[in-house]
Amino acid sequence: MNNELCLGFWKSKAENNPTIKTSKVSDINDFSEIDKEFILKYVNKETKILDLAAGTGITLNKYYDKVSEVTAVEKYKQFSDFIVKAPNITVINEDISVFEPQNQYDVILMFGIVSYFNRDEIEKIYQKYLKYLKPNGKLIIKNQFGINEDVIVANYSEELGCDYFSEFRQIQSEINMLKTLGLNKNELIDIYPPECNRWGNTHFYAIVSSFS
Ligand SMILES: C[S@@+](CC[C@H](N)C(=O)[O-])C[C@H]1O[C@@H](n2cnc3c(N)ncnc32)[C@H](O)[C@@H]1O
Repeated sequence: MNNELCLGFWKSKAENNPTIKTSKVSDINDFSEIDKEFILKYVNKETKILDLAAGTGITLNKYYDKVSEVTAVEKYKQFSDFIVKAPNITVINEDISVFEPQNQYDVILMFGIVSYFNRDEIEKIYQKYLKYLKPNGKLIIKNQFGINEDVIVANYSEELGCDYFSEFRQIQSEINMLKTLGLNKNELIDIYPPECNRWGNTHFYAIVSSFS
């Protein structure tokens, strides 16, 4: 399982008449209103945000006017074309594994992306982007995670009608990884109402991490 495998799924979605909802895995997974309200708790008019794998901007479009600036990195232009055009938004169509920021950020968002990388890949990605987090900044991750163990989906999904790959790592092991990378403060938040968690072995969480 690695990001290369996931990209086939996202590439085909990008190339098949995407809508603003397409960067949600399925329509019933659009929790962008909750995500927006959550992000707004950590920002103000001075905040500079790096939004990694921003997708169609379904969430970004709802928060960008409340912050100073947003750099959105998304591999597929067909998705990022839905991001609103505004003077405080910069869109970069690049793989987040290769992108190198030029600035430091108050908040780095990784919403719905970390499970598309395996443990080794995500560790390198966390390590790289932590260099671009201001000393008082926050890395905010939102994803499904395994509850008791890693849950790896790497096969044909009846629900999605295609091959699908995701590594839902056990939540505490993800937090332990963040700690070893120097993020000493890691707040775990049960972000969604119970009915959004449809699978018995995984759960959506947000992790708000900072150096101290
Ligand atoms: C589930 S969507 C999340 C989009 C957005 N963050 C949100 O919460 O609505 C995952 C996104 O990650 C993008 N993606 C996957 N791997 C990527 C990579 N290596 N570099 C950049 N984008 C990537 C996909 O194209 C897709 O838009």
